[in-house]
Parts: sequence; structure tokens; C-alpha cells
Amino acid sequence: MAIMSILKYPDPRLRLKAACVDNVTDRTQQLIADMFDTMWDANGIGLAATQVNVHERVIVMDLAADGSEPRVFINPSIKIIDATCIPYDEGCLSIPNTFETVERPSHVLISALDQQGTPFEEEATGLMAVCIQHEIDHLDGKLFVDYLSSIKRQRIRKLLKKERA
Ligand code: NI
Repeated sequence: MAIMSILKYPDPRLRLKAACVDNVTDRTQQLIADMFDTMWDANGIGLAATQVNVHERVIVMDLAADGSEPRVFINPSIKIIDATCIPYDEGCLSIPNTFETVERPSHVLISALDQQGTPFEEEATGLMAVCIQHEIDHLDGKLFVDYLSSIKRQRIRKLLKKERA
């Protein structure tokens, strides 16, 4: 078990674009195990490798947040099935104590590799649809605060700086 340190906004490394995983190796399995430990330790429901400063397209998720629904998505992509947006109060382990409403398409089709490197497709709605879009954004160097007004974003940035000082 290894808890990795989570990069915090506005760390510029959160803006790096993650590379595709060419081969799912033992090293990938170790990364996934460590990411789960890190996410559960922080009481999160999703974590992208970018957040632990590994710039590879790997996401772990557990919407139950208690270890009962572990999911792995390697090289994930989505297609929008229903572009009708739903609002959700999003938070992020890289942006502590901050929750803001973001609107995202309500129904998507996820394509990814599972933990064994086998391709699969799955439709997602509700929290799962929100979470996968939020985590794929991380792999592309994007954060949920990017969807907010710049005034709001500045305010969050200042608040986090103060908390860390
Ligand atoms: Ni996040």
C-alpha cells in the first residue's frame, strides 16, 4: 500500500496532457493499486493519474467511496449519447474544500481498456457520466474550475493559496 501525494491547484503539472498507455504492465498494475489507495485515503470517488504526477491515461473510480465499486479506465474516451446537460456540484481532490456547479452532458458512451488491458464499452448516466468526464478532463490538463467564470476561479485560487500559507 502506497499513498501518493496529490497535486493541488494551481500546480502547473495539473495542466500537462497525459500520454496513452501502450502496454498494460506490472508497473501499470502497481500504479493502479497505489492510485486506489491514494483515492480511498482521501475519501475520493475518482482519481486521474495526472493528479499524482504520472502523466499516463489511467483513471480509477469508486462511486461508493468505500472500496466496494472499484473501476479502472485506461486510455478512456467518450462519445456523447445525450448532450442535454445536467448540473452537478463537483469537487476535486486537487482543489480541496471547493464545490461548484458544473453542467455536463447527461449520457455518454465510454470506451476504454480495463485493468487487464481488454477493451470495453459502457454507457454512463448520472454520477458516473459526471465523474468520467471530470477525470478525462484531468488527463487533458483541464480542471472543473475552468468551467467557472474567471472571477470565481480567481477567488478559489486566492482562497487555496491562503489556506496553504
Ligand atoms: Ni478532480
